[in-house]
Amino acid sequence: MTTIFVTRRVPETGIRMLHKTFGQGAVIVAPQDAVIERDALLEGVRGVDALLCILTDAVDAAVMDAAGPQLKIIANYAVGYNNVDVAAATERRIPVTNTPGVLTETTADLAWALLMTAARRLGEAERFLRGSQWAGWGPMLLLGVDVHGKTLGIFGMGRIGQAMARRAQGFDMRVIYHDPSNPEVPDTLQATAVDKATLLAESDFISIHCPLLPETTHAFAAAEFKAMKPSACLINTSRGPVIDEAALVEALDTGEIFAAGLDVFEDEPAVHPGLLDCQNAVLIPHLGSATEETRGKMAAIAAQNIVARLNGETPPNCVNPEAL
Ligand code: DGY
Repeated sequence: MTTIFVTRRVPETGIRMLHKTFGQGAVIVAPQDAVIERDALLEGVRGVDALLCILTDAVDAAVMDAAGPQLKIIANYAVGYNNVDVAAATERRIPVTNTPGVLTETTADLAWALLMTAARRLGEAERFLRGSQWAGWGPMLLLGVDVHGKTLGIFGMGRIGQAMARRAQGFDMRVIYHDPSNPEVPDTLQATAVDKATLLAESDFISIHCPLLPETTHAFAAAEFKAMKPSACLINTSRGPVIDEAALVEALDTGEIFAAGLDVFEDEPAVHPGLLDCQNAVLIPHLGSATEETRGKMAAIAAQNIVARLNGETPPNCVNPEAL
């Protein structure tokens, strides 16, 4: 009998699809609605045919070996898959899949919201008002920086980076980007490829949209903050370790940059204590794809990949086709 282990509750769309295809008894959803403990993960995967995991699960060789040789697919419920040891999966001929596309616009919406919030100091302003500190309109009260007409620098010009560029057009912004993988970027985006030094020096806003790789880890650290404009805002909705948080705290505290908007952190769910004290940091708990619609679509895509693979077909979103 087919067994699919789901490490944490995900929207019903995906689970229903799996039930319909393989029967109710085939799907085991871990009972806790919290990050699964390592022991429970190692136990839960034992003997299963498919694993539906989330970005907080470290799916490494030990997990794959605990599952056993019948494991046919690791379907990650995220577009990023740095939590899965893809090389170990490939070695074991296990395809790994992700959920690209459906969260592009939703994540760009959130990055844009962070950009606006950081620029106009909205987090600080709301705390100010709720803290009953508002004594009336003031010419110098909570002055932010303009967004319209400025330069947006995009670090990582994949699907989400390009969705940010589209949003920038509505704000009459100049768009520059840096992406060493030289992606094809439609002319309609009117975005100019630049080197990293130019991106840092000329951007009023930098929004990070690269995957987490050894070469992008701490791509934003002390030297980068020094090279940015003092009026610049840094936005990150990709993965936390792309930023050196300790250096960012220093840059925000000393006014090396104006503000930051962060959805992701180096050691989630921990947040650098210095960031918690920075009024000019907007901090939210990894919500990039967190809408009813998008999370439902992500669950459906993860399930479709499992259905395809267990039916002997190629899973549509395989990130390591060499494993097949
Ligand atoms: C992803 O899919 O990688 C996102 O970080 C989830 O919000």
